[in-house]
Amino acid sequence: MIEFCPLLATDFERIYPIEQAAHLEPWSPANLLSCFGPRYLNGLMLHDGQPAGFYISDLVAGDSSLMNICVLPALQGKGLGWALLQEYLARSKANRAEAWFLEVRASNHKAIRLYERAGFAEYCRRDGYYGTGNAREDAILMSRLFDLD
Ligand SMILES: CC(C)(COP(=O)(O)OP(=O)(O)OC[C@H]1O[C@@H](n2cnc3c(N)ncnc32)[C@H](O)[C@@H]1OP(=O)(O)O)[C@@H](O)C(=O)NCCC(=O)NCCS
Repeated sequence: MIEFCPLLATDFERIYPIEQAAHLEPWSPANLLSCFGPRYLNGLMLHDGQPAGFYISDLVAGDSSLMNICVLPALQGKGLGWALLQEYLARSKANRAEAWFLEVRASNHKAIRLYERAGFAEYCRRDGYYGTGNAREDAILMSRLFDLD
C-alpha cells in the first residue's frame, strides 16, 4: 500500500539512505537539511508503512521547482515514481502552483521519459553542468507551463 505525507526535517534519518542509494551524486546531509522551511513543499511516500521515496520542491509566486525526487532502487520500475510525481503536481497545484520547473541529467532517460509523460518539455540545456573533469554532462531544463488536468 502506498501513502503520502508531508516530509519533515525530522524524517531526515529515514530518507537519507534513499538519497544515497538512488542518486549518482547524492546531496550532502547539510544540503538536504537546508531544504526545509516556509518556501519548500516536500513530500514522503510510504510503501507498506516504510519510506520508499520523497520529493523536495520550492514554491515561489506560483512557480514550483522540483529539486529532488527519488525512489528506493529496489522499488523502482513499479510505478511508484509516477505516483510520487503525480502527488507532487497535485499538492503543489493545491498550494497555488501554476508552472512547474525541473532539471535533469541528459543521460537520465528514465526520468526524462517520466517527466515527458507528465507533460514536461525541455526549454533549455546547460552544457557540461553536471560532473567534473572529462566526465561532464549537460543539464536539461524542463517546464510544464500549463495545468493539464
Ligand atoms: C526517476 C525515478 C524517480 C522514477 O521512479 P520509478 O519508480 O522507477 O518510476 P516508475 O516505475 O513510476 O516509472 C517508470 C515507468 O513507468 C511509467 N508509468 C508508471 N506508471 C504510469 C502511469 N500510471 N501512467 C503513465 N506512465 C506510467 C513511467 O512513465 C515510466 O515508463 P518507462 O519505464 O516505460 O519509461 C527513479 O528512477 C529514481 O529514483 N531515480 C534515481 C534518482 C533520479 O534520477 N531522480 C530524478 C532526478 S532529476
